[in-house]
Amino acid sequence: MFETLQTMPADAILGLIAEHRDDPRPEKIDLGVGVYRNAAGETPILDTVKKAERRLLDTQTTKSYIGTAGEPTFNAAMQAMTFAGVVADDRLVTIQTPGGSGSLRVAAGMLLRAKDAVTVWVSDPTWANHIPLLGGAGLELKSHPYYDTRRHVIDIDGMLETLRSAPKGDVLLLHACCHNPSGLDPSEDEWRAIADVVVERELLPFVDIAYQGFARSVDGDNFIIRELASRVPEMIVSNSCSKNFGLYRDRVGSLSHLCADTATRDAVSSQVNNYVRTLYSLPPDHGGAVVSMILNDPEWRAEWLDELEEMRGRLRRMRVLLNDALVEKAPDHDFSHLVRANGMFCFLGITPEQVERLKSDFGIYLVDSSRINVAGITEDNVGYLSDSIAAVL
Ligand code: LMR
Repeated sequence: MFETLQTMPADAILGLIAEHRDDPRPEKIDLGVGVYRNAAGETPILDTVKKAERRLLDTQTTKSYIGTAGEPTFNAAMQAMTFAGVVADDRLVTIQTPGGSGSLRVAAGMLLRAKDAVTVWVSDPTWANHIPLLGGAGLELKSHPYYDTRRHVIDIDGMLETLRSAPKGDVLLLHACCHNPSGLDPSEDEWRAIADVVVERELLPFVDIAYQGFARSVDGDNFIIRELASRVPEMIVSNSCSKNFGLYRDRVGSLSHLCADTATRDAVSSQVNNYVRTLYSLPPDHGGAVVSMILNDPEWRAEWLDELEEMRGRLRRMRVLLNDALVEKAPDHDFSHLVRANGMFCFLGITPEQVERLKSDFGIYLVDSSRINVAGITEDNVGYLSDSIAAVL
């Protein structure tokens, strides 16, 4: 049977992990997959996570099943962090999921349980895996303008104009903060204008929040979620704890449905739990238990917020460092958009051929679109990096 299957190309983002690992050049730099790195180029386990893991090891008494929705204390804490009390919790249902991707996939299945054919509007560009993940689940995807590649700004007028012609009932996927791949987020006024169109066109907002805490703060990065939750009857939110808790491989995320009323909430709750049962049965527990311990302990939570601030600050400093180096080494080119972006990503704004030359001639790995993960920049490698970029321009 399997002889009918063809070999697939490597994943555009995850494929870079192996390519970089197998490159023998000592000066190589990994600006590919979105993982945080510290000044030494390492992806450390957060201190608060280590502490919680130790306590978990000491106090956990069973590995028995919990349930399709995962750990209730985790779900309550994630719901509070996401919606900040803007809506009554009798309209919300939150479940623990295997990472943000698992959350997106369950949301796609729920949309198709609610309606036979669903169109989802995504930004052009969006996270490379949004399209196969949501499209592969059976949703129809359409894109709206987002990134103006010439001026390196958000094409907010183009976005709003396109969405004003979206049919009522279509779904709009939004990145709450740290837009992946551009790093450019709407201002609060622009978010309000987007929310106006959502309300006017009766679109269903589907918010992906994978980097909460990496742009402004945990409480600032959910601005659009709070804005929409106070104005629309229904919405979906997918969270990831991969980045803000550094729990990448433990697969921790959540999925929330905001429903028009309590009766609908109850139906959605039974459907989502039933759907999970048919898909993967139950989410993994370990990472969720760790997050729950941290968020539910005021002292640990404060320590985690400090660790998050440290990561956020380093990402900002690395953007400035690279831009400053490029001002000097490539004075005919403008890279100032690097410092206007949030979180891990931004585009260098170079061609796929130049990206390929960075890889082949200099051992510098980034996504073909020229998206870089600024966490891969260090004080030690920024000189080599900026020289290499200047050389391929
Ligand atoms: C990224 O965009 O690099 C991350 O979200 C990791 C991934 O799964 O693609």
